[in-house]
Amino acid sequence: MRDSRETSLTKAFVTGFPVKHSRSPLIHGHWLKQFGIAGSYEAVEVAPADFATFIAALKDGSSGFAGGNVTIPHKEMAFALADEPDELASELGAANTLYLRDGRLKATNTDGYGFLNNLDDRAPGWDANKNSAVILGAGGASRAIIQALRDRGFGAVHVLNRTEARGQELADRFGPRVHAGPMAALAERLSGADLFVNTTSLGMDDSDAIDIDFTAMRSGALVTDIVYVPLITPILMQAKAQGMKIADGLGMLLHQAVPGFEKWFGQRPEVTPEIRALIISDMEKH
Ligand code: ATR
Repeated sequence: MRDSRETSLTKAFVTGFPVKHSRSPLIHGHWLKQFGIAGSYEAVEVAPADFATFIAALKDGSSGFAGGNVTIPHKEMAFALADEPDELASELGAANTLYLRDGRLKATNTDGYGFLNNLDDRAPGWDANKNSAVILGAGGASRAIIQALRDRGFGAVHVLNRTEARGQELADRFGPRVHAGPMAALAERLSGADLFVNTTSLGMDDSDAIDIDFTAMRSGALVTDIVYVPLITPILMQAKAQGMKIADGLGMLLHQAVPGFEKWFGQRPEVTPEIRALIISDMEKH
């Protein structure tokens, strides 16, 4: 239960640096309107040097926020400054969702939840076979996905990264089912794999074009990309041309927003074709 002070707070935020490109206000604004909730969700740009002050004002209630989302570069600081990070955020060392409960600042990370729910929604049955997954990239987004796939029960999660040492750090962090390797191992790892996930900007400009042969993956395997601008990335285009099943990354953004909205505003929203269309039309405008 929320305490009485929190019940009167119906304001939430997304903070980052920069934050003006965030589509989260559009998503939460849509749900607020849909539920007829008298609340607000606003983008608040906070420079790294001011982040601790911002969190202090959140904790003591003076900012008037019930909580909010945190994006780059504040996710690690948000985790460190929270009173009660949950297990997911603690293992990642990063939080993207903050909320006040009984005067305490709680923190979680919903990126992995968003990733899994997007695939459950857009590619039902995608995890019927989960012997092995291949993830390209070892940045912040990759971590949450490694954690999510491990927790969904994948037998092996292979992290291939340009800087192999970064991949190795993640293998060490997430346990024996997670393995690091060089980009050169891609073809070998893809052979028989059930899932391929791109978390890098590779292929987005001509200077780093990449050719991947997905055809040796298990029949019926899925290829997905967490980059969602453009919706069908060069990697997804290649996979599709090779007859692979694909899922774009837009739903990860939509689904990761669900738990936060429920915590701040008390209603659990749904990711519908309507909200997906709303974001796609916004992407076409900018
Ligand atoms: P995010 O938090 O969004 O995941 P990041 O932490 O900057 O972003 O990570 C970007 C990832 O894309 C990294 O794995 C990076 O590889 P390095 O660890 O070697 O830097 C990868 N990446 C970006 N551009 C790349 C390129 N041109 N070729 C190969 N990998 C690239």
